[in-house]
Amino acid sequence: MASQFDVIILGGGPAGYVGAIRAAQLGMSTALVEKDKLGGVCVNIGCIPTKALLHSAYIASLLGHAKEFGVEPGTVKTDYGVAMQRSRKVSDQNSKGVEFLMKKNKVTVVKGAGVLQPGRKVKVGGDVYEAKKAVLIATGSRVKGLPQIGLEINKTTVISSDEALFLEKAPASMAIIGAGAVGMEFANIFHAFGTKVTLIEALPRILPLEDAEASDTLTKSYRKRGIEVIAGAKVKKGTPRKDKVSIEVEAGGAAQTLEVATVLMAAGRAVNTENIGLAECGVQVNERGFIKVDQNLQTTAPGYYSIGDVAGPPMLAHKGMREGVYVTELLAGKKPHPIRYDNVPSVTYCHPEVASIGLTEDQCKERKLEYVPGRFPFSASGRGRGTGETEGFVKILREKKYGEILGAHIVGTPASELIHELAVARENEYTVEEIELAIHAHPTMSEAVAQAALDSLGRVIDM
Ligand code: NAI
Repeated sequence: MASQFDVIILGGGPAGYVGAIRAAQLGMSTALVEKDKLGGVCVNIGCIPTKALLHSAYIASLLGHAKEFGVEPGTVKTDYGVAMQRSRKVSDQNSKGVEFLMKKNKVTVVKGAGVLQPGRKVKVGGDVYEAKKAVLIATGSRVKGLPQIGLEINKTTVISSDEALFLEKAPASMAIIGAGAVGMEFANIFHAFGTKVTLIEALPRILPLEDAEASDTLTKSYRKRGIEVIAGAKVKKGTPRKDKVSIEVEAGGAAQTLEVATVLMAAGRAVNTENIGLAECGVQVNERGFIKVDQNLQTTAPGYYSIGDVAGPPMLAHKGMREGVYVTELLAGKKPHPIRYDNVPSVTYCHPEVASIGLTEDQCKERKLEYVPGRFPFSASGRGRGTGETEGFVKILREKKYGEILGAHIVGTPASELIHELAVARENEYTVEEIELAIHAHPTMSEAVAQAALDSLGRVIDM
């Protein structure tokens, strides 16, 4: 007889492990099936180790400017291998933390590759597990290359973030293909460790999903520090050789061939839907390859739900985590707060950081919304001047009639932290007036949020 649980979750990444914890908290017996380390891409080869490396990069660039702060550190030497080892420790600590949480919450972890079977069952090796309530599919996503133009990931000269996170040395030169979050973050990291970086983006601007002003600010910032940025570029062909790769790039009507030691593919991810028994259980995927789900995240097969990257964009850990909580609360008979997919913050942890929520200015225009932008530059912030973090701005898009916050865009460090004031505001339908009414401590970077709110009302006070 199959071992029975209330809930079985396939995949131990952020969506899966958070869902497992919430299910257990709600009194449901829960099994989590994972073939690798707990924590998934985020903890092991994504969010967590990259943030450790980005901090090493930040320290390197800070020391490069330390003299103007009255500190002379001597010659600054960087060692990617050491930074990498530190990032691995951070990553392992987090993965062990997830293991601990599973024990603490009495979630049964089943090690191995699970395959779905009809009747809410999951087969792992020779064992079959049966879910009384539901199976949650949280198998995530993986990197992808561009084999059609010769850039298949060969793990030596053509790599992905998976390999970049384990390099012992920063390559002499690197072309990064794709300027989404992955491309931006690794351009920042490797440049700080001495690599000559060329960032290539197919769309007309880097970070194409962000507000155009954010893209412009980052383009200027990257170019100023010596990162080559080529946007609106088509990579025609890549030819990997023994210890270098040549790539043919066409941009603005001109063709050029680049020779680099390493190509880092950062042109999006593919979802893990193969060989997990989806079709056998009647779980369908949509035209973009994501698992089809309804508003409750139930798939086309009753009793099978899907959460995280595999259930559709945005492919962000925090979106998956919220889906894990939502589905398990639903299964426990609760009425969870609906997930507002239009209110998921997006953060790119490069320096300066980029964070946003809601609509961009272009989207407001396309939707013919009447809005007033409010801006505050960090160059005018006392705190920013003090710390030297003067790049960037806060921009809030205020709906003209009722003051609703249509969107907010922050470039500057720590945008990743500042954005949440606006996330709370939008989730609770606060207006810009309500943001400004809360007294913001002086001097802080957060004041820029209040000042941008005031600016949208035409009454900014400089600091
Ligand atoms: P992405 O889809 O965000 O960006 C890929 C970029 O590559 C796009 O701008 C696209 O226009 C460009 N591109 C595609 N084909 C190209 C080509 N042939 N030549 C040049 N450019 C090309 O994918 P990315 O950055 O790989 O990230 C994957 C997922 O992981 C995304 O959903 C991302 O949001 C998420 N992620 C989130 C992070 C964060 O929240 N900080 C960090 C890393 C990844």
